[in-house]
Amino acid sequence: MAQDSDTPAALRRTAEEGARLAGRILRERFPKHRTIEFKGGIDLVTDADRASEAALLDFLRQRHPHHAILAEESGAWQGTDTFRWLVDPLDGTTNYAHQVPHFCVSVAVEGPEGVLAGAIYDPMLDELFSAAKGEGATLNGLLLKASPADRLERALLCTGFPYDVRERPDLPVGLFTQLILLAQGMRRTGSAALDLAYVAAGRFDGYFEFGLKPWDIAAGSLLVSEAGGVIVHIDGRPFDVLKGDVLASGAALHPLLLAQAKRFLDALGWTSRD
Ligand code: IPD
Ligand code: CA
Ligand code: CA
Repeated sequence: MAQDSDTPAALRRTAEEGARLAGRILRERFPKHRTIEFKGGIDLVTDADRASEAALLDFLRQRHPHHAILAEESGAWQGTDTFRWLVDPLDGTTNYAHQVPHFCVSVAVEGPEGVLAGAIYDPMLDELFSAAKGEGATLNGLLLKASPADRLERALLCTGFPYDVRERPDLPVGLFTQLILLAQGMRRTGSAALDLAYVAAGRFDGYFEFGLKPWDIAAGSLLVSEAGGVIVHIDGRPFDVLKGDVLASGAALHPLLLAQAKRFLDALGWTSRD
């Protein structure tokens, strides 16, 4: 049964509190020695990812003992009702491991109709991005608006590369190569969640990436749409948190970016992996 603590506004406050408490752990550990393990060829995990996740899951379980959780490092926790939290305890872990201070905590909660609330916290800049469905997106309490840019040559774009880029470079490298020749500039920051938060804030005009996970994109997708931007599957289908090939931008740039993405995918003879 729905409770007061399950309204989008209340869930947003929980997401904000959880992201802040986990972010504090990341910030405290940042200058210290860290242990690094490899999950795959170039995919790593540090002691800070684990400590952040443990604290965040404890907090969420105390606050909402019946909600399900899907967390990057510890997997799925089945709940008994329809809410599910999606947790990335440290997005930008390669940056973190190399002492590059650009990373965040990303936490979101979804219901049967999609993402209801989410928060993305950059503890080094003390920037808390958050959104609740139908209630807008904010950065440290100030309302966000996605970029009004309507020309690719004036657009600062952003992308990222999945951990399997060496096995499948064609999509991420190919679309990067096409768009770098058309846009004002292109960034690769190493944190997909912050990339989406920056699209919501109008800092980046557009963003695309292939092969992301639900915990990378859940909170950011809501931020973008609540800030008046557009986020879709990269071939133009509606956004789905389980389908991690995404395209996001301000509303005016969206048709131009989507046309470029489709042109690229068609030329490649790409058929969806979903
Ligand atoms: C990664 C970052 C990166 C993106 C990768 C993600 P992690 O998440 O968001 O920017 O390009 O695809 O897996 O491993 O740092 O949580
Ligand atoms: Ca991530
Ligand atoms: Ca992570």
